Amino acid sequence: MFLQKLSRQLLTANTVLNVNTLRCLNYGLNTALGKTETEIIEKWKQKFAKENIDEIESSIKHILHHVIDKRETLTDKKDDQQIILTKEQINRFEQLCECRMARMPVQYIIGEWDFCDLVLKMVPPVFIPRPETEELVELILQQCDDKLTMRFLEVGCGSGAISLSLLHSLPKAQSIAIDQSEYACKLTLENAKNLQLNNRIKVIKHKLTNESELPMIEGKLDLIVSNPPYVLTHDLKKLEPEISLYEDLRALDGGPDGLNIIRSILTFASKRLKLQGHLWLEVDPSHPSLIEEYLQENKSDLNLKFVACYKDMYGKERFVEIMKI
Ligand SMILES: C[S@@+](CC[C@H](N)C(=O)[O-])C[C@H]1O[C@@H](n2cnc3c(N)ncnc32)[C@H](O)[C@@H]1O
Repeated sequence: MFLQKLSRQLLTANTVLNVNTLRCLNYGLNTALGKTETEIIEKWKQKFAKENIDEIESSIKHILHHVIDKRETLTDKKDDQQIILTKEQINRFEQLCECRMARMPVQYIIGEWDFCDLVLKMVPPVFIPRPETEELVELILQQCDDKLTMRFLEVGCGSGAISLSLLHSLPKAQSIAIDQSEYACKLTLENAKNLQLNNRIKVIKHKLTNESELPMIEGKLDLIVSNPPYVLTHDLKKLEPEISLYEDLRALDGGPDGLNIIRSILTFASKRLKLQGHLWLEVDPSHPSLIEEYLQENKSDLNLKFVACYKDMYGKERFVEIMKI
């Protein structure tokens, strides 16, 4: 009950986006803290360890820096000054640590997260952007000329991470972002407004299917990008509680072979990409060869060419580049 109430408070909290948040994380935990604060942190470290909570140090750092007014307190502190928390800050810190004990992802607890060069607001159950997806954005940017105008579509925008970081780096680009989830659409729009990118993005609540025509999108597109739900339904039971308890599983479940939404995206891309326009997908490592085969088998219908597959930072085949021919 307490946790539900706290989660609701977190959801309604008007989070101020603060670029300093993550920069301040280099600030030492024990060296700069008072005795009471150090003892409290030590207590939580032990509690987390007992419950097998992942990434204990970083969870505590993020929560601590969220509780302290980062700009006023941390940035003005000299190195040898101790940080003394107020009673309210200690209470808040302990409440948020309780949330982490209940396996709430730290991104939802602190209500924001870094992605590429942006700080994005995070609200459960909207999918938390993963570090691999930053690599997808980098791959796309390597091939885009930032001086050219272009129009792209993102299927399944979540918090807006991909669309907004592309728009941020491509000042002449325009984006259409669709998502089946109303929460995701609202969050993408809110993040776009916070980053002053809302004049170049159109967010549409829409569930893409094989029949989707999207008449509200005029003309053909230069690029389509998606990090779709691609987890094989069978693999969903292996997910960590942080994901299965707090994130919308419709953001992850790609059906029996993980390709349900990907097939719809391929059909849509074949109709709506410009000639030589590109489709970029983040996928499960089992998918690139299946997608290549599927495109070969349906070549005359789809007219899509498998260009390349790229590995992620963990050495897994994760990103697929496809071109309309
Ligand atoms: C894996 S998340 C990716 C979110 C975001 N692009 C990112 O990388 O952080 C997939 C997103 O696709 C949305 N989605 C799932 N099925 C969809 C469909 N058929 N049409 C549109 N959006 C869909 C989910 O709601 C979710 O927000």
